[in-house]
Amino acid sequence: MVKMAVLVSGSGSNLQAIIEAVEAGRIDGEIALVVSNRPDAYGLVRAEKHGIATRVVEPGKFSERREFDRELARVLAEAGVELVVLAGFMRVLGSEFLSRFPDRVINIHPALLPAFPGTHGQGDAFDYGVKLAGCTVHFVDEKVDHGPIIIQAAVPVLDHDDRDALAARILRCEHRIFPRALALYCAGRLEIVGRKVRISGIDENALSEQFLISCPEIS
Ligand code: GAR
Repeated sequence: MVKMAVLVSGSGSNLQAIIEAVEAGRIDGEIALVVSNRPDAYGLVRAEKHGIATRVVEPGKFSERREFDRELARVLAEAGVELVVLAGFMRVLGSEFLSRFPDRVINIHPALLPAFPGTHGQGDAFDYGVKLAGCTVHFVDEKVDHGPIIIQAAVPVLDHDDRDALAARILRCEHRIFPRALALYCAGRLEIVGRKVRISGIDENALSEQFLISCPEIS
């Protein structure tokens, strides 16, 4: 059973989806700890409701980013964490932190990477006028929103959407793919080969026939 830490900065709805998947036995892992950089993050309350240990590590208490990263790594190591899950964690982790957890940090991003990296992925995609938006679960490397991709899902953009409606539709999709990616990791089914992530035990013939066109049939 893989010992995970989930890092949050806000609402923690992805954390909630992960907690439910763990409790339902869909992920062969355990959430050892939930950590936030913000004491007011609702994700901490969600964790407490499920009896999960929480910690707050506040960047403002450290003079340098590196010091914050070191303290975070120390807290995770102390809890015996094997996999670090970034679920709406709005801080970039430096190379020293990543070298403590090589290929063991996974992030969710609310856009189809490599398009629309950064902190406003959904809004940037909406403003650009894409017809298919989406979300990406990926391993974290030293560049922001860049590491090898595990799962992506496309979400159609509708004419009556605004930024919030699209973000909410993407978020519902995040709740589906993030636990699935973690389940694959915990089952030992992911292998990183260069920039690619191979998933063992997938029926590729079935997959190759799946696609989504963001346009209804025209009669
Ligand atoms: C999610 O949409 C997640 O993809 C995004 O923050 C939101 C957190 O929601 N993360 C990023 O934008 C990271 N670049 P949640 O707190 O309800 O899970």
